[in-house]
Amino acid sequence: MGLDDVIAAETALSEVDGERGTLIIAGRSLEDLATTGTFEQVAALLLAGLFDALPEDDVFADALGQARLQVFEQLLVVDATLLHLDPANAMCALVARIGDGEDLDTALRLIAAPAVFTSGLIRLRKGLPPQAPDASLGHAADMLRMAGLPNTLARARALDRYLITVSDHGLNASTFAARVVASTRAGLTCATLAGIGALKGPLHGGAPGPVLDMIDAIGHPEYAVAWLEAAVLQGQRLMGFGHRIYRVRDPRADALKAALGALVADDDLPSPRLALAEAVEVAAIEVLQRLKPGRPLQTNVEFYTALLLDMLGFDRGLFTCVFASGRVAGWIAHAKEQVLHGRLIRPQSRYIGVRPAIGLPA
Ligand code: ACO
Repeated sequence: MGLDDVIAAETALSEVDGERGTLIIAGRSLEDLATTGTFEQVAALLLAGLFDALPEDDVFADALGQARLQVFEQLLVVDATLLHLDPANAMCALVARIGDGEDLDTALRLIAAPAVFTSGLIRLRKGLPPQAPDASLGHAADMLRMAGLPNTLARARALDRYLITVSDHGLNASTFAARVVASTRAGLTCATLAGIGALKGPLHGGAPGPVLDMIDAIGHPEYAVAWLEAAVLQGQRLMGFGHRIYRVRDPRADALKAALGALVADDDLPSPRLALAEAVEVAAIEVLQRLKPGRPLQTNVEFYTALLLDMLGFDRGLFTCVFASGRVAGWIAHAKEQVLHGRLIRPQSRYIGVRPAIGLPA
């Protein structure tokens, strides 16, 4: 079970080639998009053809900035209960306040929302007032500024590369969840809520926080093999490794490793954890090959996500919310594609429970 190899949708949005380790997003290669594009451009590419009168690049970026301002007002009425929730749950509560619909304005508000809410939650959880968006800035730069994190050009570019890299990825669990909800015509807001809910789990977008925990627990390269062996022998999964589709290395890991390298070089950042992480990665692949022979368990996107978001100053408890800030573009595009071109998604189950002894025809 788990729907391996089942084709559940046709999409023009992205293709994951698990054998070759390649990713196409909206007709362009990940490497091309991550090195030359902006998040706004990628979001516009994903939405192209799905909404009437989609604005051109610069106007689209302005419209996304205006959408950030519109959703920001939700952060002005946040109670303490919400701040004590898991941040992904708090984000769901805030996103649920955005009126449902299938129009472009709703889509833009939903694409803007996770970045605004992540940054606002970071400040509110520290007892600080949320910082209003600046619609004239790029989405990534504004996200760092609203969060009160260091916001150099290099840092904004690194976050932009991250948001692009995770913007869409075929029929992953959260995108499938979003498409299922959209297929019932529940609207884009409810589809986004489904996406966030599915993303939160540690087998999907909840992995990067635990990746950092693992690297910290290992502490020194020379302890890596013994620590990782013990974890696997105890039946634990090594976070940041393995993937349902990729039989080879996840290309997003390399895209993020490149973004991290550029950030360290540009901002002259010390990177002791990076050297440790590289040693942990080598050790983990060796341990997995030895203890799980025959299974192609390689580095996935979450390993370098953890390192990059940590270096940008995000708290590990908020990593999933930052992930949602990029993936939301894919959720919205898939949800709209499902509405326009799909049918109600309604698979079957096989009943394996007790059958009534009487009362049914033979
Ligand atoms: N560490 C150790 N063993 C693993 C790992 C891992 N990271 N991943 C898979 N395995 C093992 C399983 O224990 C299982 O072994 P067994 O048959 O001896 O019990 C075997 O490989 C197959 O596991 P499945 O769960 O069937 O594989 P699936 O395709 O469902 O797993 C998944 C994909 C969930 C990503 C898995 O590799 C995993 O749990 N990885 C760790 C969590 C993680 O990094 N998640 C982020 C994924 S990327 C993303 O979603 C954005």
